[in-house]
Amino acid sequence: MAILVTGGAGYIGSHTCIELIQKGYEVIILDNFYNSKPEALNRIRKISGGDFTFCECDIRDRAGLDKIFAENKVDAVIHFAGLKAVSESCRKPLEYYENNVGGTVTLCEAMRDAGVKKIVFSSSATVYGSNNPSPLREDMPAGGTTNPYGTTKFYIENILKDVYAADNEWSIVLLRYFNPIGAHESGLIGEDPNGIPNNLMPYITQVAIGKLDCLNVFGNDYPTPDGTGVRDYIHVVDLAKGHLCAVDKALSGTGLNIYNLGTSKGYSVLDVIKAFEKASGKKVNYRFAPRRSGDVAVCYSDPTKAKKELGWEAAFDIEQMCRDSWNWQEKNPKGL
Ligand code: NAD
Ligand code: WQD
Repeated sequence: MAILVTGGAGYIGSHTCIELIQKGYEVIILDNFYNSKPEALNRIRKISGGDFTFCECDIRDRAGLDKIFAENKVDAVIHFAGLKAVSESCRKPLEYYENNVGGTVTLCEAMRDAGVKKIVFSSSATVYGSNNPSPLREDMPAGGTTNPYGTTKFYIENILKDVYAADNEWSIVLLRYFNPIGAHESGLIGEDPNGIPNNLMPYITQVAIGKLDCLNVFGNDYPTPDGTGVRDYIHVVDLAKGHLCAVDKALSGTGLNIYNLGTSKGYSVLDVIKAFEKASGKKVNYRFAPRRSGDVAVCYSDPTKAKKELGWEAAFDIEQMCRDSWNWQEKNPKGL
């Protein structure tokens, strides 16, 4: 089976491509390197011991997409390509709607016209907004997102639901990721953020390696056991494996299905700092700072549906996630 992976040079995409290649899928990677580097492709080859086709292309480039579908057999698409920085999305909402929503519409048009109607889409736990209590289940109402990035995911989910309602030959899997951290055990690929990281784990690893001085812990007055925010961190390799189950689901028939990919466990910011210090042997300098706007107190998954219907379950614990994040950071202090 041949899978087109948009955004395949990025953090989650590169880990997923390795799993796909190792399982014998033919892989075609599409990326515009907006938030990734060509070196990621060399690393995918090195780790997987296999090869793939690469197309430097933008998902908003209809002619470029048509050429890819004309020149390659594609059975399904895993669609990672998108912009993902929450704070940037508040400053540049139009860029986020254009790239994420517009790009997905263009991709789906090209897919439809090429007769490829199977897609796995990278959605996010952010679509649950701030009104649902954890553990979050797929049948809870989505919406009430707190930033333009999250709203792009909510809109795209709705667009894909409409696409399926209009033509039920489509097979669509919406994956709602919780908080991916960690890296491939080789330490050759991992999260490589541009500039100062927005997310907790890359910030922690950059403090530990001495690139940043001190972690700001956003809020210590939440209604949680230690007052800091609680999240469902998931190892990126577990997440990558979830995509193989999801793409098999997409290939096996038609329909629209939504799955949480999380562990069901919630860890506070202080829990993560402690687990990281234990796994790395490094001290993480931190101070308490005011709450970050748009943050919820608690967010963790009920992943029962993915286990029951996809046979997928996360395997790695928080210590392994921290060990692998640190291994990646130590081996690549400047990123890729
Ligand atoms: P990433 O930025 O590392 O990867 C995204 C890739 O898409 C990058 O390689 C980038 O160059 C590429 N890209 C962006 N716009 C493109 C365009 N118009 N055309 C072609 N390529 C384009 O991000 P990631 O963490 O790997 O996330 C992958 C997907 O998962 C994204 O859609 C993101 O919103 C979603 N997601 C991520 C998280 C997370 O915390 N990392 C959580 C939930 C959902
Ligand atoms: C985790 C916890 C922060 C940084 C975001 C997106 C979400 C999804 C995953 C893409 C929170 C605290 C963080 C720091 C801190 N992305 N924190 N100091 O906000 O749960 O989710 O990434 O879809 O859509 O919103 O992840 O890693 O930013 O924060 O104290 O410097 O760490 O307040 O409690 P978040 P995060």
